[in-house]
Amino acid sequence: MTKKIALITGANKGIGLEIGRQLGQRGILVLLGARDVRKAKSAAQQLRAEEIEAYPIELDVTNPEHIRQVVAKIEQAYGRLDILVNNAGTYLDHEGNNTDVMRRTFDVNIFGPHALTEALLHLLKASPEGRIVNQSSILGSLTTILTNEMYAGAAVPAYTASKAALNAWTAQLSIALRGSNLKVNACHPGWVKTDMGGPAAQMEVQEGAETAVYLATLPAHGPSGGFFHKSEPLPW
Ligand SMILES: NC(=O)c1ccc[n+]([C@@H]2O[C@H](COP(=O)([O-])OP(=O)(O)OC[C@H]3O[C@@H](n4cnc5c(N)ncnc54)[C@H](OP(=O)(O)O)[C@@H]3O)[C@@H](O)[C@H]2O)c1
Repeated sequence: MTKKIALITGANKGIGLEIGRQLGQRGILVLLGARDVRKAKSAAQQLRAEEIEAYPIELDVTNPEHIRQVVAKIEQAYGRLDILVNNAGTYLDHEGNNTDVMRRTFDVNIFGPHALTEALLHLLKASPEGRIVNQSSILGSLTTILTNEMYAGAAVPAYTASKAALNAWTAQLSIALRGSNLKVNACHPGWVKTDMGGPAAQMEVQEGAETAVYLATLPAHGPSGGFFHKSEPLPW
């Protein structure tokens, strides 16, 4: 198997599906994770009609049994994983500012990616040039929300805290992986027209997927332990 293999979470729609498309267009085999397997199948069908080698995979990132099955499937079929894009995310702050919202947001935005990545690490290490991309947000940048008036008004504590935690873990993981073939970076896609970004967003998904695709396909001399938008570093 000479093709690279990529797993993208939350790949049934939005930026995740487009990341699958753009990686697939580069000749990478893409495993499209979705918590509803029917949606994963329909996304894979859509990309296969565009001559992309795409396969559906049932994956709710908060479900330990799904994670176990995904690891077993990838191990059995390929024996390695070249790219993991932790893209699945949730935004629940409109439901209120309370601990339940905070907990459920953290489940998807940090505990899920952490559990999945830890479980896949041996398969990523088996790749000659493994890449991990954590889909964060500019709202996870403490420097930005404290200094940039444009973001200061966005009162989304659970989302912001979960993405800041994702960023902190990205930095920690990059330190743990120093000296290996693996690179891990956090990504801000931009404000993108999706179900989460809403219709007023500035970017189409094609542009929104670019940063994750850039980080997923970094060359050996590329960065690790950074936070990026469009190949430009962002403040933590
Ligand atoms: N759009 C923006 O402007 C923007 C800006 C900054 C960062 N982001 C980040 O970009 C990522 C993608 O967002 P998007 O804009 O493409 O939003 P989206 O269209 O709403 O897609 C979110 C994806 O995450 C999936 N998901 C939610 N909970 C999940 C779970 N427990 N397990 C697995 N998948 C789950 C959703 O699946 P279902 O279809 O089953 O719900 C969906 O596939 C997120 O991490 C988001 O925080 C987006």
